[in-house]
Parts: sequence; C-alpha cells; structure tokens
Amino acid sequence: MSEKTLPIPPVVLDHPLVLHKLTRLRQASTSTAGFRRLTRELSLLMCYEATRDLVTEPVEIQTPLEKMEGQELSGKKLCFISILRAGNGILDGMLDLIPAARVGHIGLYRDHDTLEAIEYYMKLPDDVADRDCIVVDPMLATGHSAAAALDRVKAAGVKKIVFVCLLAAPEGVAWLNEKHPDVKIVTCAIDRGLDEKGYIRPGLGDAGDRLFGTR
Ligand code: URA
Repeated sequence: MSEKTLPIPPVVLDHPLVLHKLTRLRQASTSTAGFRRLTRELSLLMCYEATRDLVTEPVEIQTPLEKMEGQELSGKKLCFISILRAGNGILDGMLDLIPAARVGHIGLYRDHDTLEAIEYYMKLPDDVADRDCIVVDPMLATGHSAAAALDRVKAAGVKKIVFVCLLAAPEGVAWLNEKHPDVKIVTCAIDRGLDEKGYIRPGLGDAGDRLFGTR
C-alpha cells in the first residue's frame, strides 16, 4: 500500500503589523499607490517567514572590539518565481530583503473548454534546479494555476519550494495540499471561501487590477 505524504500545514502570519497592513490593503478606498506600497511591505514580511528554514554556517568575524563567531547563509541560493501578472507585485518586497535572488516568471491562462491551465510564458534561470524556490502569487483562489505552476517548477528539477500569497481561500489550500503536499504555503490570511465568480471572500478584489490600476 502506498503511503500518502501528509501536507505541510499552511503558515498564517499573525504579527500585528501584518494584520494592520492587510486590513488597509483590503479596503476598497486604498489607492493604487497605497495598495502597491502595502503589498511591497507585506511581501517583505512574508519573505522573512518563508525563508525561516534557510541554512547558516558559523563564520569568524572581527567587530571593532573583538573577534566573534557570526552566522552567514550557506545553503542553496534562492530563486523567486512570479505567476504572472499579479505575482510581480510581490517581487519588489522580496527583492528588497534578498536582492541577490534570481527571478523567474510563469504565465498561465485557463482554457475555457477544458479548464486546463495553458502556459503562454515561462522563463526560469538556467541553474534553477540548484536553487530553493519561492513561488509567488497574491491570491490562492482555486489553486489550479498555482498547482500547474508548481508542476512546471518541479519539472525543471527544483526540490524545495515555498508558495507565498497574500490571501488564500480554503479551497485553494486544499487543492495545493492535495497536489503538492511537500510545498509549504505562507500567507497573511485564509479567508471564508470562493464566490461563484472565483473571487476570494471577503478578499480584496482583483489583486492584479488593484496593483496595476486596471479594470
Ligand atoms: N484573483 C484575484 O485577484 N482575486 C481573487 O479574489 C481571486 C483570484
């Protein structure tokens, strides 16, 4: 009998700064500029949590007063992978924290007839298989495009992946846990659920439109 991998439980950030900034982000009255700034700030905080397991090694340094043993990152290098287009809104804050990370992009759309995720763009760094990856999309709604993106990242040889989103629906978390139980989800909140149009409720609306000022 084959053993089923138990999914990694999602990490929901409960820091007061996250609660405050997410509340501002949700508000319909928040401007495009404000939405972008809050997304950047929240992304930095999510990146902090998503990188909690990075490996460090001791290094001897000299302070102005004496020698001491510090710690520096020693594990695999990182790659951030944005699911187009709204994922790009998350990249800035993450790159503020880890400017040396490489960046990949995956574009998918849903075929109306088959409901299958069709890839229209994919560009990953050549050495992506040697990196740990953080895949970003602000909204984990049905989870179908996220799962399809993760299929592609794994097919490229990546072994360790964290998925970062601002908001998740329980349906999306369940789908991703089913398809990719080895991928940790880091999010600012898990909302009530999806409506009949696929929006997360209470949610924040269309993240791409709010980030880029489109409709
Ligand atoms: N994508 C969005 O931008 N918002 C939602 O609520 C769901 C998916």
